[in-house]
Amino acid sequence: MHLQTTTTAISDWSGDLLAIAVFQTEGTLTLTDPYTTLDQRLNGLLQELINEGEFQGKSGTSLLMRLLPNFPIKKLLLVGLGNRDEFNLETLRRTAATIARTARRERVKTLGMALPHETLEAADAAQAIAEGVLLALHSDVRFKSDPEARKLLPYPESVSLLGLGEQTAALNRAQQICDGVILARELVNAPANQVTPITLAETAQRLAATYGLSAKILEREECAALGMGAFLGVAQASDLPPKFIHLTYTPEGTVQKKIALVGKGLTFDSGGLNLKTQGGIETMKMDMGGAAAVLGAAKVLGQLKPAGIEVHFIIAATENMISGRALHPGDILTASNGKTIEVNNTDAEGRLTLADALVYAEKLGVDAIVDLATLTGACIVALGDNIAGLWSNNSELAQALQQAGDRCGEKVWQMPLENKYFEGMKSQVADMKNTGPRSAGSITAALFLQQFVDHTPWAHLDIAGPVWTEKEDGYNNPCGTGYPVRTLVEWLCSLSQ
Ligand code: BES
Ligand code: MN
Ligand code: ZN
Repeated sequence: MHLQTTTTAISDWSGDLLAIAVFQTEGTLTLTDPYTTLDQRLNGLLQELINEGEFQGKSGTSLLMRLLPNFPIKKLLLVGLGNRDEFNLETLRRTAATIARTARRERVKTLGMALPHETLEAADAAQAIAEGVLLALHSDVRFKSDPEARKLLPYPESVSLLGLGEQTAALNRAQQICDGVILARELVNAPANQVTPITLAETAQRLAATYGLSAKILEREECAALGMGAFLGVAQASDLPPKFIHLTYTPEGTVQKKIALVGKGLTFDSGGLNLKTQGGIETMKMDMGGAAAVLGAAKVLGQLKPAGIEVHFIIAATENMISGRALHPGDILTASNGKTIEVNNTDAEGRLTLADALVYAEKLGVDAIVDLATLTGACIVALGDNIAGLWSNNSELAQALQQAGDRCGEKVWQMPLENKYFEGMKSQVADMKNTGPRSAGSITAALFLQQFVDHTPWAHLDIAGPVWTEKEDGYNNPCGTGYPVRTLVEWLCSLSQ
């Protein structure tokens, strides 16, 4: 698929499908510039169809029409943008996704998109539209053996964005960002017999080799030497070796800020002896969604190469399994900062692995740490499937992440680090337990993590909900969504300026 901008006027464009979009109006819509010239060339057909269909430009509505055989455009798609007051980059992304899906269904070879951008920068608009197209058209058929099932509807051969000027740089940027999102999706989609701690480490090494990052993989013994008792406790029942992955992006020139991204990397979470049951266990290949996002962000950064920021990508990768070597409920582990943990529930394993990863990250002397984790079902109960919970010990960092999420259309909602609730994590025998009472489970999980950060600005994103989707939702296809790669990249690049 060739994605490009063109300076051809809307009324001069020719091809299989031209998509145009209009804002919602009270009552039936009247076409305005720049679409009126096109309608004149169609002898007012477009306006007539709008009138007949009482089209109002509501978000999610569209009108597809076949034009006459001698007209230079075969089909026209009119899409509603919804309220003009709510128009933003996310409107463009979602509209572009809808158009791309329609174009594919209609087996369109040449697609033109003439969307308004109002007061948004043309480059930002081009990037958002391209992201919508690329992410909507990606579908993962790697595990179908049937050639028929693998044969997807063909992609449009050429997609041209009209009315945005020449935006090659913005389109390249979108392509690089989507590369990272798609890597994250594919890592999440792949089952636990394919994405293991070993293959996750190999993926990291391959990224490093391709994009000039440095890679360090710590084996079990090296983790033991660093005192990572919490991480290794979780890993001890698995037949697969744990891998502690550390990639580094170093910019050219001087380093102004050092950042660490830490991703939960449970390639499978059986729950351990507190075994999960049907209705919970079968999707637990996605419990490395945080790690997938971290590697996705590494792939993007390796291509964008922003100046002034050094970024560390950290994953304590393992499975949470059962065997004669498994953690017993009640076992006491010592993390690498010396704190002791009574494991009263082996299914609260993510926080144990993250504890040692956070201690390791802080020792690097970074200016900020952000962790991403499919940490709790409780966060899904609180915020649903589409919104990640955000906890932070630093309001500036929280605000910056919130802003980045808003710009990318990846929803983030800040939750309280309510210290009083840590009382529920007190242990009779150790410094703390790994789980508290039933209430506020995503908050107590965050408070647990905070025990392993001493002084560095830190934020925790519980992405258990949005990392995964069961339905075709906006520009996301069923399965892994690649959340929140775009937000991470947006935030990192904002630090680079
Ligand atoms: N990986 C799960 C959290 C999860 C649940 C992610 C559902 C995605 C969908 C995590 O390790 C876990 O099992 N958490 C427990 C914590 C509890 C034992 C305190 C949970 O949420 O039930
Ligand atoms: Mn668990
Ligand atoms: Zn888990």
